[in-house]
Amino acid sequence: MKRMLSGIKPTGKLTLGNYIGAIRQFVTYQDEYEMFVFIANMHAITVPENPSELKKNTKDLIALYIACGLDPEKVTLFLQSDVHEHAELGWMLTCHTYMGELQRMTQYKDKVAKGETSLTAGLFTYPSLMAADILLYDADYVPVGVDQKQHVELTRDLAERFNHRYGETFVVPTPVVAKVGAKVYSLSDPTKKMSKSENDDKSTIYLLDDPKAARKKIMSAVTDSVGIIQYDPENQPGLANLLTIHSCLSGESIESIVSRYEGKGYGELKKEIGDTVEKFLTDLQARYKEIVASGICEKVLADGKEKAQAIAFKKVRKVKKKLGFQLFN
Ligand code: TYM
Repeated sequence: MKRMLSGIKPTGKLTLGNYIGAIRQFVTYQDEYEMFVFIANMHAITVPENPSELKKNTKDLIALYIACGLDPEKVTLFLQSDVHEHAELGWMLTCHTYMGELQRMTQYKDKVAKGETSLTAGLFTYPSLMAADILLYDADYVPVGVDQKQHVELTRDLAERFNHRYGETFVVPTPVVAKVGAKVYSLSDPTKKMSKSENDDKSTIYLLDDPKAARKKIMSAVTDSVGIIQYDPENQPGLANLLTIHSCLSGESIESIVSRYEGKGYGELKKEIGDTVEKFLTDLQARYKEIVASGICEKVLADGKEKAQAIAFKKVRKVKKKLGFQLFN
């Protein structure tokens, strides 16, 4: 069975973008692959984090993974900081990553371009830690949204570089990006990504939003003045985004939604999408509450830690040997 791995940072609250671009894919693939899904809490501290908020977001994330449909019997769910090999291999790979490669990472470049100051060294080198997350487990595939694809490509380069220098050590992973929904856009500015850190609350739907409030956000989403329901991301990005959200949550193809709405207005379509989002969140949150109340999360993470650590330990041992760290047999 091929292996698949992915993770999400517990920074801020989980969004519909995280669900559509990432978690939905993990759920679809859990029967087909040996799946590892983790909480990237070491990545969360690359920006200033309030410890009690981080704790809350981390607990929410594990419960939400399960509520979204990840089955702990099938998937190894774990917390990154529980497996210290991530930090260890992260450092070893940082020492094989060029400054120029990190400077080319879009997320870093965007922050610099925005004039953000006080960026930490961790934020700069985090793609090397992400490579370690993936390479520790010999993952064949890494399902991610569009914004993370570049990091998986860097991971491929690092794996190839290391294998070339020291001999076969790492599996070279392939990013898996969904055909529909790989980038969900902001509801108030559909040229921007829907993001956890958005200041404008109307632009982002959070998975733990009040379902009725989320419905309102859909109703007030920015569209255009063209007035025709069609899928045209270039000229009608807001509408294309709503159609994508609807298709991903309902399972109906965009084509079919568009043909049902031929000659109708945006208001009617928004009502249907609002209903879909409201129902999706209501059902999800009911499962989330049950999971939190059941108290299973602690055991799920303890089991996940054990499985993940056994694999990570062997990989780091192998890497240390290759690097000349192991002095005696
Ligand atoms: P993070 O936490 O920013 O995002 C988690 C996942 O959600 C996807 N995503 C989106 N997809 C579609 N539309 C959006 N608006 C949207 N916003 C977020 C992201 O592409 C991602 O797949 N560095 C990673 C976490 C990470 C990781 C890893 C992922 C750490 N190590 C190893 C895979 C493998 C991150 O910050 O993702």
